Amino acid sequence: MTRLIPEEPLGKLGEYCDYRVWEGELAVPGDVLLREVQSVDALLSLLTDKIDGVVMNAAPKLHVISNMAVGFDNVDVREATRRKIMVCNTPEVLTETTADFAFALLLAAARRVVEGDRIVRARRWKTWGPMILLGQDIHHATLGIIGLGRIGTEVAKRANGFDMKILYYSTRRHPDLERRLGVEFADLNTVLAESDFVTVHTPLRPETYHLIGEEQFKKMKRTAILVNTARGPIVDPKALYRALRDRQIAYAALDVTEPEPIPSDDPLLTLDNIVIAPHIASASVATRTEMAMIAVDNLIAGVRGEAPLHIVNPETLAQ
Ligand code: DGY
Repeated sequence: MTRLIPEEPLGKLGEYCDYRVWEGELAVPGDVLLREVQSVDALLSLLTDKIDGVVMNAAPKLHVISNMAVGFDNVDVREATRRKIMVCNTPEVLTETTADFAFALLLAAARRVVEGDRIVRARRWKTWGPMILLGQDIHHATLGIIGLGRIGTEVAKRANGFDMKILYYSTRRHPDLERRLGVEFADLNTVLAESDFVTVHTPLRPETYHLIGEEQFKKMKRTAILVNTARGPIVDPKALYRALRDRQIAYAALDVTEPEPIPSDDPLLTLDNIVIAPHIASASVATRTEMAMIAVDNLIAGVRGEAPLHIVNPETLAQ
């Protein structure tokens, strides 16, 4: 196990397996991981661990990688499948928690909450003023959702509560959701051009790497706000910096960056029109406990030769 998880799932794991855990605050160093995996049947990993062919080569007995995240771009699934190693993730449980946080970021950016807090703490709040910290209305604005999967759908539900017009771009259309939630499908350029807020909810794949870059920022409104709670590399950080600096778009709110953590000399940190959270969209007590429990359940099932509830390469079951 590459990091300590909450007590309850840890206890459950202990009932079924002998385990070793990396108890460091930071991600397990590569050399330690390579040494420790040599004798393991299963690995409980996090999105901060790169689990590639090198790690798998060092682990001849490994047959389950249980990643405690819905995203699994840190695991080389193709290499795992080739070696008949099951790869598991923790979807669903974090959907609403993550959607709540995407909305929290959207609200914080639109209404300049973090800037306001900085002013108050710097003892620079001098008066109420008719022109101070004017933000943008969320209600009745247009929201563009890129990727209408589980989390994107929950964001749409929340947006309905704010009477927003909702556009979405996705690799496939969702007529049922269009009817149920009143969301409208459009191509990516239209979503970018017509939205006051653009929120990203696609997985990171080769085809979504830097999906939002210089060309896309040029298409967006100058008043637009970009929210990213998916994966950092979906947005080109250099292009984002230029777009925010030159007011090509108004604001960004990120829970994820490229790389993570964001380096202390990253120019994005010099800007006022950005809010950056340290990848905490799923970080509620209940959700993180539940994610760890699902990761443990997936791992135990795999070790016992049963089908884990959430397996991303089910073809390994038939092998
Ligand atoms: C995930 O699960 O992929 C999130 O990024 C962290 O909860």
